[in-house]
Amino acid sequence: MTQDIIKKISYLKSVIQEHDHCYYVLDDPQISDHEYDSLLRELKNIEDSNPELITPDSPTQRVGGSPISEFNQIQHNKPMLSLGNAFGINELEAFNKRINDTLDVNDVEFNAELKFDGLAVTILYENGLMKYAATRGDGNVGEDVTHNIKTIKTIPLKLYGDNHPRTFEVRGEVLMDKNDFKELNEYQISLGQKTFANPRNAAAGSLRQLDPKITAKRKLKFYAYSLGQVDQDLELTNHTDILKYIHNSGIPISSYSQRVVGINQMQHFYEDILKKRNDLPFDIDGIVYKVNSIKNQENLGYVSKAPRWAIAYKFPAEEAETVVNDINVQVGRTGVITPVARLQPVFVSGVTVTNATLHNEDEMLRKDIRIGDSVIVRRAGDVVPEIVRVIKEKRPSNAKVFEMPQYCPICNSQVIRIDGEAAQRCTGQLKCEAQAKQAISHYVSRKAMNIEGLGAKIIDHFFEKGLIKNISDIYHLDYEEIQKMEGFGERSAENLKEAIESSKKTTLAKFIYALGIRNVGEATSKDIVKKLGTLDNVMKASIDDFLEINDVGPVVAQSLHQFFQEDENKAIINNIVEFGVKWEDQAQNVSNDQKLNQQTFVVTGTLENFSRDEIKELIENNGGKVSGSVSKKTSYVIIGDNPGSKADKAAELGVKVINEKQLMELLNE
Ligand code: IVH
Repeated sequence: MTQDIIKKISYLKSVIQEHDHCYYVLDDPQISDHEYDSLLRELKNIEDSNPELITPDSPTQRVGGSPISEFNQIQHNKPMLSLGNAFGINELEAFNKRINDTLDVNDVEFNAELKFDGLAVTILYENGLMKYAATRGDGNVGEDVTHNIKTIKTIPLKLYGDNHPRTFEVRGEVLMDKNDFKELNEYQISLGQKTFANPRNAAAGSLRQLDPKITAKRKLKFYAYSLGQVDQDLELTNHTDILKYIHNSGIPISSYSQRVVGINQMQHFYEDILKKRNDLPFDIDGIVYKVNSIKNQENLGYVSKAPRWAIAYKFPAEEAETVVNDINVQVGRTGVITPVARLQPVFVSGVTVTNATLHNEDEMLRKDIRIGDSVIVRRAGDVVPEIVRVIKEKRPSNAKVFEMPQYCPICNSQVIRIDGEAAQRCTGQLKCEAQAKQAISHYVSRKAMNIEGLGAKIIDHFFEKGLIKNISDIYHLDYEEIQKMEGFGERSAENLKEAIESSKKTTLAKFIYALGIRNVGEATSKDIVKKLGTLDNVMKASIDDFLEINDVGPVVAQSLHQFFQEDENKAIINNIVEFGVKWEDQAQNVSNDQKLNQQTFVVTGTLENFSRDEIKELIENNGGKVSGSVSKKTSYVIIGDNPGSKADKAAELGVKVINEKQLMELLNE
């Protein structure tokens, strides 16, 4: 029996790893999300019943248990080096000449690759299994970020193939794609939390989380670029082959890498990538040239902390000087008031920049940015232009300090600053046209109700015509009126109608997310549904009920409760449901095929194999509920060592009492 289970676990682990690779690395999923989730759930269920068979390379272990309290330090086996820089073709030429002269050859071969703009990480595998991962730190000692690196699905927990060196250390860069960075900042704004200045900071901030659950939600990537300690001669004679070997072990490397010989080819690769730079999904800040032959590398050696055999040829800085013509504010979806600088148009890395976010009042004051100032702007992460600094020497005498408005420029409601938050907010909520319009934009967005054809401009138009004031108005649009509008015709009005009709069948999680409740993103919405099952339950839930949900703290619970208490919101939701928006209730949907279908459990005493959180998760994952007190409605009391009064209460009320083993039997039935 155990042999069968071991075989099954091993089979599921390798199948899941393969699908992770197809999905995350090759971008070519072979099965549906649903099928993938079932595989993972099947593995989790078997492991829950056989916790002794859980191994660190299991895909269920990617998001480990509880947050750590601090980062441990890790001493690098081999120091993590930095790179010398070359700015401009002359410096690159000098580097090439120096290498050729030292080696006394004509044209040495280099491997040219991207210089990723993320943060360096080393990952050590022992006998093919990930043992630890650490940041670069000062080059000698870094921080242990294993718990977070494990959440990056492109990085294997177990290397592909067999016969790995006992110690195999891979080094590379952790990055965040520009799109994911943008999405993360939008999410941070919706939570009223601080945004990141660029993808590198976002990647670094995400990796330096104590709680791996947070890192798991951030979409990080990793590209390897070298080896660290390896205790076996791999008989690889050049860097290109090292990269290939790393790749064959299942670790991602970038496909933008090429052997080059001579300054012309070196410069050509640089220019080619410079052209493609804006279209790459992530930020790079130059090209790295590495002498390809390992023997030559050894001959060249090192100077202080950098190899003599490699150089980073940096791209020109993506900064430009311009003037702040004006500063005004934008009102966001959740009412956050953001100061924005209106700039004299300036060309930065291929784009004309006319606005730059000043983030919030504190940030604006810290940088002391005034109207009329000459400033240096940067396209942070190629996405959001921002002001790096003011050129104080050029400040005109009439430069004007901008004061944040006390009343919303759109709806005139009071602007307040919530304790502990950097952001100021308009209190007008949906009475504020700016917030109402963005609430609709959010409601129709792809990850929410996914209604195509209702872009921001059209929403503006519909507002002007009085066709729409809130999200429920979407369901009784006057299509005759719309047909007559500029840019619309019979066909596009009909398309919109169809898009709205077909969006009505959705999921409760998407609907809750679509409501745009402050601090409630996609993941939280899913957790809410998992726990509460029906809209009715959600609307009636108390703050305490919300607090029982995974990852929901007091701020989110308060925000949820307040939202569902407001009569206006209740009326809008009821209207929407009456207009036919529907979903299958998760409670009925999930639980029918689950072992503990809607049964309520109370736990007392110390369990042998599970912590309280673990047993709770196990029960909930199988469709059951866990409650804190015994009542007639309790299905089972699970009893461990030294049980408390709950066992007596169970006896008194005639509730069935079982132990851990019997619970496992229920699950295996
Ligand atoms: S090799 C032995 N290759 O640049 C040389 N580094 O200034 C060690 N970096 O901290 C580095 N892309 O994080 C190498 N293709 C690449 C790189 C790269 C980015 C970073 C790396 C390191 C820094 C050195």
